[in-house]
Amino acid sequence: MNKGNAFTLSERASLGLEGLLPPSVETIDLQSQRALQQLGQKTSNLERYIYMIQLLDSNETLFYHVVMSDPAYFLPILYDPTVGEACLKFSHIYRRPRGMYISMEDKGRVGQVLSNWPQKDVRVICATSGARILGLGDLGANGMGIPIGKLQLYTACAGVPPQGLLPALIDFGTNNRELLNDPLYLGLRRARPNWDVLDPFVDEFVQGVQDQFPLCCIHFEDWRGIDAFHYLERYREKVSCFNDDIQGTASVAVVGLHNAMRILGQDLKDQKVLFLGAGSAGIGIANMVASAMKLEGLTDGQAHDRIWLFDINGLLESTRTDLIPEQRPFAHVHAPSHDLVESIASIGPTVLIGVSTVGGAFTQGVIEAMARSAERPVIFALSNPTEKAECTPDQAYRWSSGKALYAAGVQFPPVRYGGKTFLPGQANNFYIYPAVGFAIYATSTKRVTDEMFIEAAKATADQMTEEQLGMGMLFPAQSNVLEVEVRTAIRVATLVFDRNFARVDRPKDMESWMRGLVYKPQYGA
Ligand code: NAI
Repeated sequence: MNKGNAFTLSERASLGLEGLLPPSVETIDLQSQRALQQLGQKTSNLERYIYMIQLLDSNETLFYHVVMSDPAYFLPILYDPTVGEACLKFSHIYRRPRGMYISMEDKGRVGQVLSNWPQKDVRVICATSGARILGLGDLGANGMGIPIGKLQLYTACAGVPPQGLLPALIDFGTNNRELLNDPLYLGLRRARPNWDVLDPFVDEFVQGVQDQFPLCCIHFEDWRGIDAFHYLERYREKVSCFNDDIQGTASVAVVGLHNAMRILGQDLKDQKVLFLGAGSAGIGIANMVASAMKLEGLTDGQAHDRIWLFDINGLLESTRTDLIPEQRPFAHVHAPSHDLVESIASIGPTVLIGVSTVGGAFTQGVIEAMARSAERPVIFALSNPTEKAECTPDQAYRWSSGKALYAAGVQFPPVRYGGKTFLPGQANNFYIYPAVGFAIYATSTKRVTDEMFIEAAKATADQMTEEQLGMGMLFPAQSNVLEVEVRTAIRVATLVFDRNFARVDRPKDMESWMRGLVYKPQYGA
């Protein structure tokens, strides 16, 4: 409710604020100008991040007014890659709490703990276990920076009102020695337990959310890959929930692939896709690519045959004994291989997707092998943050002699190569989950399905113009992200009503109803 210097004279009188503020009564535009000026004097994005979090703590409306004035500028400050650095240093740059910390110590009274949250109408909880933060591994309670940042983008990118959004850290402990030895570490100091202990606790959390916030959706974020699948399967048919690393990432990758096919004049069903990384992101994308190929006419078997994965133990093939059930459908008959270049030569992929957390894994040899394998190879280096990208756009264009269609998980600047300017796309799930989140918020959906994420991908891809594709753009412009995502959300919400998942009445005019719900960063009366 704070307005800072924008409180009017009569508000100051009635609220007892006279004398507590400088006399000048300002507009929110003027306040934004001052904030932008102060930000401009900061010398690093981490300092800008800290400044913005303080602004959020003191004046939420002004924070969103500033952010929504230039989302393209703020995305890399509030989210990838700065948020990675903020998480690494979380316990050290910490100023005041935000969101909820649910720890194993709360076992047996999680519902009671959740009831301490002052806002009673919570619509989305973004919950992380901190076990796989971006490509940075187990950061324990330091992972709290991720749900905070993710939820800010619900509002900034899709207009979801911030009041009903709750960031949460489910603290099971950490296996990160460095954190356990850090006296300033803020989390639980114990090793992570196994599923026997985790399952009843996560069950209690999920039930507690249903009891305290009946319309709430749980957005699982940055759990360890194997946990991500396990908990998505455990709850997806029972409550409103989704896993962004699996479903959101898959959806945004499909947007990029769909647009790459438009540029190439080809069909996805004719591509061969190879992944480096077979974790939650890799398997999530692989499943959605298979679904998209099936929509183009392939059988389930034919679609799976066109998709291959390579992980830390080499190519996923039928003799591997270490695979989890989700990976099995992609383990084809092939000789064991631990050499990515050799696998590219023998499989002949046209698309290479990096979700391995290994920066620089797409070496010159790998990109050259892709350029031999396909006339115009599609190369997505999706790992975050920046230093984890499997290759930079400059490398992809140079090593493929300008033939690659490239996207990364983070934003890279345009690249000049061979007298041409290339615009590397940012394949980041922030194009998808805020839009799906807005549809969830508007409809109070009972379930979140893969079909909703496929619809979001289609809606996002459909908004790309021929002119943008002609410039090699695979994703919409970030400067226009709010409008793009509101349009996507309208399509997803329509699907929610069509499938009878909505818990509100279907409006007569979907578009104006949804647009009326969009959050506007202006002070109320
Ligand atoms: P994960 O931990 O579940 O999986 C990582 C996978 O990489 C595992 O299959 C592992 O075996 C494999 N891997 C590790 N080292 C390897 C090596 N040296 N060679 C080959 N494979 C190796 O992680 P998850 O959730 O799949 O995320 C992976 C990356 O994707 C992270 O960096 C994450 O930040 C990024 N990501 C990007 C998104 C985007 O929107 N651009 C969204 C979600 C994840």
